[in-house]
Amino acid sequence: MSSLNTNLPYRKSISGRFMGRTALVTGGTDGIGRAIALELLREGANVVIAGLEADKENGSKTFLDEGFSPLIITGDLASEAFCKDLMKQSLQHLGRLDFLVNNAFSFVAKSLDATRQDWLRSFEVGPFAFALLTQLAAEPMKSQGFGAIVNISSISCRIAQPNRWTYNAAKGAVAQLTRCSALDLAPFGIRVNSVSPGWIWTREVDKAAGSDRAKYEPIWGKFHMLRRLGHPIEIAGPVLFLLSEDASFITGTDIPVDGGYNGLGPEGLGETTKIAGST
Ligand SMILES: NC(=O)c1ccc[n+]([C@@H]2O[C@H](COP(=O)([O-])OP(=O)(O)OC[C@H]3O[C@@H](n4cnc5c(N)ncnc54)[C@H](O)[C@@H]3O)[C@@H](O)[C@H]2O)c1
Repeated sequence: MSSLNTNLPYRKSISGRFMGRTALVTGGTDGIGRAIALELLREGANVVIAGLEADKENGSKTFLDEGFSPLIITGDLASEAFCKDLMKQSLQHLGRLDFLVNNAFSFVAKSLDATRQDWLRSFEVGPFAFALLTQLAAEPMKSQGFGAIVNISSISCRIAQPNRWTYNAAKGAVAQLTRCSALDLAPFGIRVNSVSPGWIWTREVDKAAGSDRAKYEPIWGKFHMLRRLGHPIEIAGPVLFLLSEDASFITGTDIPVDGGYNGLGPEGLGETTKIAGST
């Protein structure tokens, strides 16, 4: 019997718990960000989405298919001017800002070959934009006395992986940004947390697999106790939990949503080890 669970995750029931709430989700036109934006919309929130122009059409179609037509603002988050304009337009559209989800990132994975440009790209789209949007969101959130921010980090924020200096260092910076901003914003009723996904089947992973999921999921799945990769919606649930009032006493921390990736030791799933007492 195959140990690979290929069942699609359950579709949550809709509670309307974010009715009247407003959110900005970056990288919401594809992958994990799109799943987060969709779940917020389903739960009643008014959502503005940021993404690259190239992804707008496909993103809009997914939302329309579900009966939603959120405002999608396109541009490059590496640009300070774009981040400022994004926040301005979002506030104009939403009226107030309850939630910020910093999700879009650059997948530059370089090591000894990394150029200054590679480092800049990693950090500008990643922690620089996360920090700037947090600063900009803090203003309206402070005057409301309420706000919740979730940064999408990664298992890569705390471990070494081959040839990943740029990406992993940028994710490490997200971990510290989350803690430090949570500390400084706590007096204003603003919580900041992060979620660290394991391998999630989105387009970068699909590209690396040459779109051959049947071949690669059983291989990469073994990095996780659950023996499979995650679905974007499985990240959305924990993000919505952190945004919700159920998480009112949670700030400055990270939730690994990694199918057991972090808990595995060098023996992996134990397929090559024989321990006394085992069969
Ligand atoms: N997929 C995984 O296995 C995985 C694992 C751990 C962490 N993550 C993290 O999850 C987040 C989302 O990853 P994904 O796999 O869903 O990505 P994705 O490539 O599927 O989607 C990326 C989204 O971000 C937007 N985007 C990318 N660069 C941008 C830029 N410079 N300016 C504006 N928008 C930009 C794109 O338009 C798109 O909407 C990232 O922070 C990533 O590091 C992903």
